Amino acid sequence: MDSERTLTIIKPDGVEQRNVGDIIKKFEESQLRIKAAKMLHLTREQAEGFYAVHRERNFFNDLTRYMSSGPILVLVLEGENAIDRLRDLMGATDPKKAAKGTIRQLYATSIEKNVIHGSDGPVTAKTEIGYFFSALEVL
Ligand code: CMP
Repeated sequence: MDSERTLTIIKPDGVEQRNVGDIIKKFEESQLRIKAAKMLHLTREQAEGFYAVHRERNFFNDLTRYMSSGPILVLVLEGENAIDRLRDLMGATDPKKAAKGTIRQLYATSIEKNVIHGSDGPVTAKTEIGYFFSALEVL
């Protein structure tokens, strides 16, 4: 498996709860390298743009309100099988269903406030990285 890149977001609840350090430690322990990172406080419009694929879902309004409610940390991670590796570290979307020891099982409080986002495939990863970072900003 070649090295690949993925986008991750430590969401407002993760930043607010001061889980950032613990989460980054898990990335690095899992051989994922940080290639870019920035702290942002999204506007509602920016959150809606990022989650545009979910526009028709009944949770879209709550999700975009929440994602624009406080600072987030956005990172590009690189490593072998990075997309699946990150998704394994995150655990299921719903923390009640997340495997023991995963980031969401440890830190998330609900399916909405689920601490972390990770790209779900190579095409999405490319689009999501481009949403937040220019080519010059990714090492
Ligand atoms: P994420 O991996 O960022 O992708 C979409 C987000 O929508 C998801 O994490 C959750 O934060 C949120 N989400 C997904 N399903 C639901 C749901 N049923 N109710 C509320 N929020 C959801």
